Amino acid sequence: MQLDLTQFRGRHVFVAGGTTGINYGIAEAFGRVGARVAVLSRSAENVATAQARLQALGGEALGCVGDVRQPATVQEAMARAVAAYGPIDVLVSGAAGNFLALAAEMSPNAFKTVVDIDLLGSFNVLRSAHEHLRKPGACVIQISAPQADTPTPWQSHVCAAKAGVDMLTRTLALEWGGEGIRINSIVPGPIADTEGIRRLAPTPEALERMTARVPLQRMGRCEDVARCALMLASDWGSYITGAVIPVDGGLSLTGPRDFASAAAAAAAARSRA
Ligand code: HXC
Ligand code: NAP
Repeated sequence: MQLDLTQFRGRHVFVAGGTTGINYGIAEAFGRVGARVAVLSRSAENVATAQARLQALGGEALGCVGDVRQPATVQEAMARAVAAYGPIDVLVSGAAGNFLALAAEMSPNAFKTVVDIDLLGSFNVLRSAHEHLRKPGACVIQISAPQADTPTPWQSHVCAAKAGVDMLTRTLALEWGGEGIRINSIVPGPIADTEGIRRLAPTPEALERMTARVPLQRMGRCEDVARCALMLASDWGSYITGAVIPVDGGLSLTGPRDFASAAAAAAAARSRA
């Protein structure tokens, strides 16, 4: 028995925050198996690059400039994508922001910014998509983070925001299950060569420490996360909803982390620049 990847041919996959890193990896994985992929993010340059890379795979792709904090821009992008590709079969919500800062030192606007992007932004994406999702049959995937259930110093903003993201997943699984819409969270562990890791492990030493904590003793790859997304969106995932699924080499079993030394290294690098 094999996962039949031909089932994604011609399917409409919309990836919010999908122009770089892990989320782009998911967009590309669906593009490689013949899906028609729309990606949205803020930077026109990121959008143009991602669209060109996806089109170079030989399929159809649409890049949209938008900010998940501004629902009108998300709605406009989805209207364009739906006009081109029809109802959304797979929706990925992965836009996020992160930096290392202690709660007692960060400004209210710094905390608010991360909550606005990660949590309110996810709501805006899901809320805007609801009318466009294929019913029955759509699959929604939220990209969460280990901070959602592991209290993590220097990450109070991300912990609070991503915990909300996972609770949104569970709640909407109940509200939307009757319409035949499934929704799950993927929780990536530390994924190599991503912006998230550049921010949380800014030196070779920090990277080494982070890798040593992973029970499988390696960093993840974007492909590890993308394969989980393909499985969830496929017929193999058809009875999975409301789940929060770690793709983290076992990191979630290891307890709280403290990014104090990583924060010091990041601050030193900033002051040298
Ligand atoms: C303290 C900071 C800060 C920092 C920004 N702020 N960086 N505070 N330490 N390092 C404060 C600013 O001073 C400001 O508050 C407020 O946050 C908003 O900053 P802006 O720069 O105006 O915001 P904006 O342009 O909207 O950019 C959002 C951003 C930025 C989150 C700050 O870094 C961004 O766009 N990030 C997207 C890419 C990203 O972060 N990718 C990694 C995702 S990884 P004041 O009070 O001065 O107005 C992830 C999990 C990884 O999410 C998990 C790994 C295991
Ligand atoms: P990334 O490359 O910075 O990805 C974030 C994406 O979101 C970018 O494409 C960015 O593009 C977009 N984005 C940010 N703010 C946005 C906004 N307001 N509106 C629309 N798009 C926005 O970082 P990454 O490390 O790959 O992280 C991707 C996802 O994985 C995030 O949800 C993160 O929390 C999660 N995660 C990452 C790791 C890791 O190891 N890296 C671990 C656990 C979880 P623009 O700048 O063009 O907007």
